[in-house]
Amino acid sequence: MNILILGGGGREHSLAWAVAQNPKCDQLFVAPGNPGTAKIAQCVTLNILDGAAVLKFVRANSIDFVIIGPEAPLVAGVADVLQVANVSCFGPSQKAAQLEASKFFTKSICDTANIPTADYRYFTEIQNAKDYVQLVGAPIVIKADGLAGGKGVTVAMTLQDALNALDDVFESKLDNTDCEVIIEEFMEGEEASYFVLCDGNEVLEIGTAQDHKRVGDGDTGENTGGMGAYSPAPILNKKVAESAMSNIIKPTLAELVRRGTPYRGVLYAGLMIKDENPRLVEYNVRFGDPECQVLMMRLGAQALDLMLACAEGHLSNITVNWAKDHALTVVMATKGYPGAYGKGSIIRNLHNLSTSSKAMCFHAGTNQSDDLIMANGGRVLNVTARADTLLEARNQAYKMVVEVDWPDGFFRGDIGWRAL
Ligand code: AMP
Ligand code: GLY
Repeated sequence: MNILILGGGGREHSLAWAVAQNPKCDQLFVAPGNPGTAKIAQCVTLNILDGAAVLKFVRANSIDFVIIGPEAPLVAGVADVLQVANVSCFGPSQKAAQLEASKFFTKSICDTANIPTADYRYFTEIQNAKDYVQLVGAPIVIKADGLAGGKGVTVAMTLQDALNALDDVFESKLDNTDCEVIIEEFMEGEEASYFVLCDGNEVLEIGTAQDHKRVGDGDTGENTGGMGAYSPAPILNKKVAESAMSNIIKPTLAELVRRGTPYRGVLYAGLMIKDENPRLVEYNVRFGDPECQVLMMRLGAQALDLMLACAEGHLSNITVNWAKDHALTVVMATKGYPGAYGKGSIIRNLHNLSTSSKAMCFHAGTNQSDDLIMANGGRVLNVTARADTLLEARNQAYKMVVEVDWPDGFFRGDIGWRAL
């Protein structure tokens, strides 16, 4: 079959890498892709937020299956356009994608379905929000509603931080009519990510992972999109997973069915775990990045069969062939990230890395000119390895990382520290 993947980050490189290994895959296209996907697929220029343009490409190239990587095309309704046109597609509808796009939507689902999560209040007036914060004090969490690329959340450890965060949220929306903010109870515990597939009825667990959100070693410094990940996440053990499945995932999916917007695709639950009790932090309607890279490393070619079964409503007929091993990915980023950074620095020696089915350097923000690979973003490479133990996977990944010749890049030296 011919397959189109939408997106161009490290997540999509790892998806393409896994899908390309499956004998069912004939021609593989990635839009827009990157220099990493260009080695295994055809990269195409396409406005991936434009459902009609995607559909036109699908028809012109006899595409049998579309995999949507990032949230933006899902929120823009690209899966809906494909579904109406009877094109098999992996990714939820625009309405179901509100689980990620609107924190308020998710909170209302949690309320109705009685899902364990942080207590919250919702405000549209800054003074009311400030009065409330003064009343309950810190630590407290301030969230702007809507997609904010990970920047809409402030975990305020002091009252002043909370008040400043409210000023920021309301100031950034000065010319906007409705400003919405959610103020949440601060949840203590350890975070982990739980990934399930849902076909509208059935649900299937496909893995656990732990991300490293802070830019610096020891989880210090600013928040980022994620500086490294590993799978499985030991904190998300069988007992915690069962609890998350029955108390969080299943009630959410049932409530979506009840509202007439069943969920199809991967659902990624960010969980806060304390004393083996998981509570929901947030939902994402896509694979995490870089969590996807470690999941794909471990699932390999079967990832395509799983995504197909999910899209076609056959999840009850498929099981995951679990690897007993561990995968770990180290993100290499441009110096300055997540603040200001330059573009165009040259990355050397990538072609000498000894990659295999157990070791890959996935590209994220790179571009290519002739034979030169250059940095073209904040998070640039995801050096990923898989081995019998997490320690061995980490050693393999870092062995490759230090071979990358990129003076303008940096990485965290402690990915995996919690589990190790
Ligand atoms: P979100 O975009 O909702 O995932 O928030 C981003 C990050 O902020 C999460 O991954 C957590 O690390 C942190 N966070 C969000 N909500 C809370 C909360 N209620 N308590 C503690 N930490 C939180
Ligand atoms: N790595 C976190 C995310 O993809 O949202």
